[in-house]
Amino acid sequence: MSDLRFFVTAPIPDPGLPLLRAAGSVHLPDAPPDAATLRAACESGDYDVIVAQVRDPFDADLLRAAKIRGISNFAVGYDNIDVAAATANAVMVGNTPDVLTGATADIAMLLMLAVGRRAVAADTFVRTRHFSGWRSDMFLGQDISGRTLGLAGFGRIGRATARRALGFDMEVLFCPRPPGDRPVPDEELGAFAGRVRHVDWAELVASSDYLSLHVPLKDETHHLVNADVLQAMKPTAVLINTARGPVVDEDALVAALASDEIAGAGLDVYENEPRLAAGLAELPNTVLLPHIGSATVSVRAAMARLCAENAIAMARGDVPPHPVNPEAWRP
Ligand code: DGY
Repeated sequence: MSDLRFFVTAPIPDPGLPLLRAAGSVHLPDAPPDAATLRAACESGDYDVIVAQVRDPFDADLLRAAKIRGISNFAVGYDNIDVAAATANAVMVGNTPDVLTGATADIAMLLMLAVGRRAVAADTFVRTRHFSGWRSDMFLGQDISGRTLGLAGFGRIGRATARRALGFDMEVLFCPRPPGDRPVPDEELGAFAGRVRHVDWAELVASSDYLSLHVPLKDETHHLVNADVLQAMKPTAVLINTARGPVVDEDALVAALASDEIAGAGLDVYENEPRLAAGLAELPNTVLLPHIGSATVSVRAAMARLCAENAIAMARGDVPPHPVNPEAWRP
């Protein structure tokens, strides 16, 4: 057994822990660490790599004092880590891209369908024994087919959502880097060329029946959807967020939903997760999921494998297979 040392902040599925245990020693606390405990673990010099989750914050202060080689995030997103500070302090960061793309796009579609067709309220109606026979005016929803889907962001998950939406006969618009823009040549669009339309952020907001967010959380995307954006959306529009909660001003969203400024929202992520903005849970025109975009058995297993492989490589002093900041590597 080698002397690689891992601090795993919360259990990860198989084959993650067995791979780590085969490579070295694993410390798995009984409960996920609070900020002070995480900081103490990073500073202790007892661990080579922290195997972290999206709720574990690594700020510049912690990273300056950290005596670790790397952080292996059990997620594709890494907004919980100050990557610039990690790089400055020679702390490598690994993530788990690609394996969760399809599953997350599936959840975006599920939320569109569930909000548009009022699936959760209809399910509750049946379970509570209110269904007493077919009626022509029962649970009338909004179409998905033939409606316009606006994709904020056109990376891996945005494109996978576009593929699915085209199969539902939706018209697909995209803005690649909202609230700004960048040119997207046809060669980059590949098979999407001629099937999806590039528009600017203002047009995307104003034209979408379903506005679905697929951007990373950064300074530029924090509160990308704010009160002004919500006001500029169609009153019949539905907002879908499977990206990161703080991309949406959640208080503004509650106000917009409560005043019928927009028709509905399907959310898998929240601004102050796991806390919900006041009033959100009481709104009938929402479907709220507990951050399950990547939650399938096979996807979580694939994430666990990548996460462990990243962690083992970093603990050995190598660049991980999926590096976020390869420039942090020091020979
Ligand atoms: C991710 O991978 O970034 C998800 O949001 C958490 O699993």
